[in-house]
Amino acid sequence: MDKRENFGTRLGFILVSAGCAVGLGNVWKFPYICGQNGGAAFIVLYLICLALLGWPILICEYAVGRASRHSTAKAFHVLEPKGTRWHRYRWFSVAGNYLLMMFYTMVCGWMINYALRMLTGNLKGKNPDEIANAFSNMLASPVQMTIFMVISVLIAFGICALGLKNGVERITKVMMLLLMCLMIVLAVHSLVLPNMREGLAFYLVPDLGKITEIGFGNVLFAAMSHAFFTLSLGIGAMEIFGSYLDKTNRLAGEAVSVTLLDTFVALTAGIIIIPACFAYGVQPDSGPSLLFITLPNVFNHMAGGDIWGAAFFVFMTFAALSTVIAVFENILSMTMEIFDWDRKTAVCRNIVLIILLSMPAILGFNVLSGIQPIGAGSTLMDLEDFIVSYNLLPLGSLLFVLFCAKKNGWGWDNFIREVDTGKGLRYPVFIKPYVRFVLPLLIIVIYIKGYYDMFSKYGTTSLIFWMCVAAVFLALIYSFASGKPKE
Ligand code: ALA
Repeated sequence: MDKRENFGTRLGFILVSAGCAVGLGNVWKFPYICGQNGGAAFIVLYLICLALLGWPILICEYAVGRASRHSTAKAFHVLEPKGTRWHRYRWFSVAGNYLLMMFYTMVCGWMINYALRMLTGNLKGKNPDEIANAFSNMLASPVQMTIFMVISVLIAFGICALGLKNGVERITKVMMLLLMCLMIVLAVHSLVLPNMREGLAFYLVPDLGKITEIGFGNVLFAAMSHAFFTLSLGIGAMEIFGSYLDKTNRLAGEAVSVTLLDTFVALTAGIIIIPACFAYGVQPDSGPSLLFITLPNVFNHMAGGDIWGAAFFVFMTFAALSTVIAVFENILSMTMEIFDWDRKTAVCRNIVLIILLSMPAILGFNVLSGIQPIGAGSTLMDLEDFIVSYNLLPLGSLLFVLFCAKKNGWGWDNFIREVDTGKGLRYPVFIKPYVRFVLPLLIIVIYIKGYYDMFSKYGTTSLIFWMCVAAVFLALIYSFASGKPKE
């Protein structure tokens, strides 16, 4: 008999899944990528990418999870035709989840740190130089960063230790509902700030001139890559929630709800941040320092700024923690399936492992800052982010799509049968040729262009080396996807 736990409610599934999607990508990366890529023009392309890339891939992940009732550690073993090699991808997905957490727990710790600073008035009345110094002092202190990273790891694993329904579902539901309330209050407040019209115009009125200036290819690539990151696609982090889902509802509709919720949070985060920047005369394109240097300055000039600042960083902490909890749940499930551990053993061992694995990202900002692995000024966190965001997410997504569409994989008919089981929105079958042929090609193009853009600036030798690395990864995926079934 199938003893696997299911979600208690549909809302629970949607909020936990959305919690996995809603994270630093929405509230930190999205506003500054949007600022750097021309505001509204970027958003239009991003929404198109979500519909054309994110949504179909998310459905593939849910379908593989729900049909196999396993994490990606075993899902391909269960569904693949005998003799094929799809299951070898499991090591990529295990690596992807750990790598994502190797820097995510650290940044989640930064959020908790800044939420506490705001709540205790630690940054109140400081001038811009002092605020910038506070951030660089934090980065220079491995002890401070380790303490907050460990706090985030313990909170998230503590919740997972309570089980799927009692821990992950119950607590994430509350956290996501609080996140939505805080977000709406912050957005309404942002809309009454001076100069907000200018900020909103930048954010919501597409300026095609800006796209030409930045380069259409660059803006499109940024939008496509972010679509993978924001939905946590390609490493099985969403697949796991399909595996806890009953057959009541069709999967296309569930994927629409989760994608819309994720998009709503990202767009609202922009409404919170961008008008505030315009109101206080700062550019919203300052990159990662936007949250930790630019915004604390903005809050210092605002009436009631300490309260708004505290609410803002608590909101950020919930967004980051909801992803950490979701990915930890996947890590637990994977290690329980691979090593036959019970939940308690998996929690204890993974706490130690994740804390150790999070250390390189932390040390990369101070003790190991001399290591600049992917170009001058880069850190170990950039390397980890690069491996996940530029490799494992797109390649894993490619593998999921091929697995669902190819005859030597799970196959289109099995896939559609699973997706359309239940009530609700049917899968639009007319997109079959798109999913089978165009989508894989699009992913490959995005993948290669990502490498090209990243490394062409370092000269031909470096470009050739990295293009060879990309080719090796693609060849591996091809080898997993090209096995012949045994008769
Ligand atoms: N989907 C997660 C985020 O957006 C990884 O942060």
